[in-house]
Amino acid sequence: MMFTTDRPPSWQVCVACGSELTEHDPRSRCPQCGGLLEIAHRPPGLARADLVLRFTERRGRTPRATVSGVWRFRELVLPSAETVVSHPEGNTPLLHREALDRYTGAEGLLLKHEGHNPTGSFKDRGMTVGVTQAVRVGARAVACASTGNTSASLAAYAAQAGLPALVLVPAGNVATGKLAQSLAYGARTLLVRGGFDDCLRLVQEASERLGVYLLNSINPFRLEGQKTIVLELLEQLGWDPPDWIVLPAGNLGNTAAFGKALREARAWGLIERMPRLAAVQAAGAAPFARSFEEGFRRRHTVEPETVATAIRIGDPASHDRAVRAIRETDGVVLAVSDGEILEAKAAVDACGVGCEPASAASVAGVRELVRRGVIAPRARVAAVLTGHLLKDPGMLLRYHVETEPAPPGANRPVEIAADLRAVERALAERE
Ligand code: F0G
Repeated sequence: MMFTTDRPPSWQVCVACGSELTEHDPRSRCPQCGGLLEIAHRPPGLARADLVLRFTERRGRTPRATVSGVWRFRELVLPSAETVVSHPEGNTPLLHREALDRYTGAEGLLLKHEGHNPTGSFKDRGMTVGVTQAVRVGARAVACASTGNTSASLAAYAAQAGLPALVLVPAGNVATGKLAQSLAYGARTLLVRGGFDDCLRLVQEASERLGVYLLNSINPFRLEGQKTIVLELLEQLGWDPPDWIVLPAGNLGNTAAFGKALREARAWGLIERMPRLAAVQAAGAAPFARSFEEGFRRRHTVEPETVATAIRIGDPASHDRAVRAIRETDGVVLAVSDGEILEAKAAVDACGVGCEPASAASVAGVRELVRRGVIAPRARVAAVLTGHLLKDPGMLLRYHVETEPAPPGANRPVEIAADLRAVERALAERE
């Protein structure tokens, strides 16, 4: 039966006295009695089956199919996997904010926000495949070295699979949120007195000697999952590739995965032309950018230092695979300073999107490439935000509260007396 009414689609009702307000009324309580308000909706006027079908269609999936943004692409990821360890993950949004068009000079800049994954970074896409594989090969335990995100993700997926996890992170150089995740999900967490490169060397030795399954991005199954960042991005653009895909680069696993995804998408007819990759490193940890400037004649290692601890890496493990990715896509590699990263992060945060410091390297990179004339202002550009804002609260507090003099984007909190005049003053200052 169709429900007919002359009511608007939605309105507000006082739970206490039943008074009604329009949907657009800004008051936060009932003007009659001060009661709490509730939203009421007109019934949708569709038969149940039609309604359910509509919800399902919008979601783009049938009920029995997997809801993972990795395993949706299973034909291109790991076709033989029958039972998978999936959170699920992926299906991350593609965002646009005019403020960032203005900031970078790239009109219509799109942000693929991988911070929307279950543990807050793109690592979950690789980890669902990596841990699935660990189970398939009968691993007794899994391990990784990490600057924090890989370990958070491994800890979560290992917990789901019921596998013991060992993570090695550089003592004193892991963002608080990431360390907290690894502890919470129950991984055996080793704070190594050294950098990421030391952790990686050590965990490789440990995996060989102790027989634990290694889940760094040198593990190829990880990269198969990470390819789906690109596949999903292409899908969101109707398989009409952008001109540029810009990403932060540290250990270079992701750069390698992006190159492989594009190569295969092209070979298998999903896209007709290659976008160009731009890999962005922090200036204090930029061995790959240095190699690029020399036409990749040499591989460099550096003593890394940057505020973007996620990419504080001096000897990237996937160097060779990443060189291939840059060459095949006519890509570029560049370095941006810590100051540029922090400024770009403040811009990403201030428009309500938010990301962790390393992620902002991609936005800083877009800005720099537009400035250099490498990216045309009208080019179609997608930048990947690799991690969530809450990964690194320590850095946020340093930037907004503690740094003297206040950086340009600093948002100082104000402590006030509990009275209205102080609130009014604070509001007037902001307006
Ligand atoms: N962005 C974030 C937030 C990261 O955590 C990483 C790497 C990168 C970018 C760079 O990706 O290494 O594939 O070039 N994090 C690793 C980790 C190293 O241990 O979590 P990459």
